[in-house]
Amino acid sequence: MKRENILAPSILAADFTHLGEDIQTVAAAGAQYLHIDIMDGTFVPSISFGMPVISSIRKITDLFFDVHLMMEKPERYIQAFADCGADGITVHAEASTHLHRTIQSIHAAGARAGVALNPATPLSVLDYVLEDIDMVLIMTVNPGFGGQSYIPAMTGKIRTLRELASKKNPDLLIEVDGGVNTSTIRTVLEAGANVCVAGSAVFSGDRTEKVKGLLEVMKEYTEF
Ligand code: DX5
Ligand code: ZN
Repeated sequence: MKRENILAPSILAADFTHLGEDIQTVAAAGAQYLHIDIMDGTFVPSISFGMPVISSIRKITDLFFDVHLMMEKPERYIQAFADCGADGITVHAEASTHLHRTIQSIHAAGARAGVALNPATPLSVLDYVLEDIDMVLIMTVNPGFGGQSYIPAMTGKIRTLRELASKKNPDLLIEVDGGVNTSTIRTVLEAGANVCVAGSAVFSGDRTEKVKGLLEVMKEYTEF
């Protein structure tokens, strides 16, 4: 099956004193999404940023805003994130008791719905929602911080999910998040991921060069 590969630079690793500039640079270099990590200090140890940042960067770019909610009870904030400019909203299966209802409310808010799984969470939690969602985010590190190393056991998880999706939801986007760089990206693409989040691999050094380097590799993978 033909595939579309998407690069999603994560602004968690951007230079916040020049955030607008960093975003425009990665967009001009060809990145299709902007990955926006929201951390609540409870579901994950750290706290990142919230709606005011999203509203303000919404004014300077048309990039797809891929909002990753690392928060407890994300259902409380779906409408608020949609209102400030999220195009896609991803919630953690571990954090939302009534996951099916949360997915419905993401769609009702007009956004694309994603479900994220921590490394230790089995794919079976998706059994009864896989057909209802647009994307699964496989965490390839434990969520909470940028700059960690890819967990090799996640390769088999991505592969199994792509097999499941080919039967149940062929258009499913599989996003990988954490430790994706020029040395691990082939592994995740080969396993069947097609949305690659990259934080430190994009925002450390020359952003244009880094984005182009990753996109170049992504172009080689044209079919599942
Ligand atoms: C981690 C976040 C990631 C993070 C990835 O909890 O969800 O999106 O920004 O950073 P890197 O690419 O540096 O591992
Ligand atoms: Zn993320």
